[in-house]
Amino acid sequence: MIEESSRDTASDAEFADLFRRFLTGVVNRAPASGSVRTPLGDRISEHLGVDARTLAMVEESFASHRMADLDAGFAAIGAGEGVLIGVSGGQQKRFVGLPDLLVNDATAFAEAPVDYVSVDVGPGEQRNVVAFGVRLLSIDGAPVAVLQRSADPQHGRVQASVEVLASEQSTSSTLIDRLRSAMNEHSVLRGQVISFSASTFDYGNGTLTFLARPVVPAESIVLPPGALDRVRAHAIGIREHALRIREGGGHLKRGVLLYGPPGTGKTLTVSHLISEATGITTIVLTGQAIRFISEATQLARAMQPSMVVLEDVDLIAGDREMYGGPQPLLFAVLDALDGFEGDADVAFVLTTNRVELLERALVERPGRVDLAVEIPRPDRDARRRLFALYAERAPFSASAVQTVADQAEGVTGSFAKELVRRALLRAAIADRAVDDADLLAVSEELEHDRESLTRRLVGGDPQPDDSAAGDVGLSASWP
Ligand SMILES: Nc1ncnc2c1ncn2[C@@H]1O[C@H](COP(=O)(O)OP(=O)(O)O)[C@@H](O)[C@H]1O
Ligand SMILES: [Mg+2]
Repeated sequence: MIEESSRDTASDAEFADLFRRFLTGVVNRAPASGSVRTPLGDRISEHLGVDARTLAMVEESFASHRMADLDAGFAAIGAGEGVLIGVSGGQQKRFVGLPDLLVNDATAFAEAPVDYVSVDVGPGEQRNVVAFGVRLLSIDGAPVAVLQRSADPQHGRVQASVEVLASEQSTSSTLIDRLRSAMNEHSVLRGQVISFSASTFDYGNGTLTFLARPVVPAESIVLPPGALDRVRAHAIGIREHALRIREGGGHLKRGVLLYGPPGTGKTLTVSHLISEATGITTIVLTGQAIRFISEATQLARAMQPSMVVLEDVDLIAGDREMYGGPQPLLFAVLDALDGFEGDADVAFVLTTNRVELLERALVERPGRVDLAVEIPRPDRDARRRLFALYAERAPFSASAVQTVADQAEGVTGSFAKELVRRALLRAAIADRAVDDADLLAVSEELEHDRESLTRRLVGGDPQPDDSAAGDVGLSASWP
């Protein structure tokens, strides 16, 4: 071999020189992975004080509705003293992880403006938050680099995430722990009223919506004497004694069930509770949206004090769990209630028109609901109060209001409201001021309609099995 090589010394030397220069270049530019570092990789490595390509990444995902909380959380853990940079490379950067942004396979990812996205942070309120940006900061003096990335469901990224690089993995874990608790503490969801609903791109996670907190005073609700106070005291009032209850080893977690025929004021009662629960994070799931129970309970746990309202629970009583489990969704919901620690400051409020569908589930899983209150059709006294309430602003005589209230046996609260509306409408159509005659006339009309659909639609038809609602074995106070 030596002889052979000596035959062509000049070209061998040239090749050797070329090869050596090539190797030197490789060694200098990429000591670890043998690839070329991008300008972004240089910038991050410079911050970390080591070649970023040699570090293991720690990734953490967050529900898409926590994107504003990510910004708030980073601010709270001191990211403001660090720098935030964007990344070049258009859409391409969205399809690769942080380690891929550090090496130049096809694209020389470099520093560029930060991408932002507008997200809801309150009812009718938006804020621009980081959609794609690299934060260079330090945790207890140790440098850390974090890629903060928004959810991008159209491209298959259902969750937001952070990808963390630091020379010690423990630094990355510390950052994530602190970020999580700062996000919960400073969450834009805290103290808000929110609901989940299904949408095209949510991949089953539900889309979060902020609701305005309703204003429903106690005076606008007519219930059997003491019922509203009991519900309110249990759902909200207990909190005043939180300290003593916890000290005594008692549990704060509580479940209230409101049951009764449709149109009797269950939703109205819930709205009143929500209106009284200022400062309490409230999550409302109605009917089919109850399948987002795990998102709701996760938030409820993180945002204590909290209240989870499950409206019309009977609508899911027959549903199987999402992923084909043998277990009805209702049982999953009750298990979710049980998943809370006893001292969790969380109230569950359930409503149903058909308590008989829930009874077995509730009895088989005792302790989830510890107060069940019937919201019945109004009796004569309640009807008089109801009709007086809805006729308050109309110029009817007290005796006319009382007459129609007494006639309206078996109706619901919604019927009283509808009757007054009809009287007003009748006068308006005749183009004159409303008076007792209108009220009595529409009452007569609906009285004659007793069997008709119209009457049933406005809540005026007592169902044959109504009386059973209060007699299904649900004691008012669950043991
Ligand atoms: N007990 C009540 N007191 C006052 N208004 C009532 C009552 N029940 C029903 N209403 C009226 O009827 C409407 C519908 O009642 P809602 O609370 O939705 O019934 P439910 O949830 O029990 O089916 C309410 O918004 C309210 O205007
Ligand atoms: Mg309702």
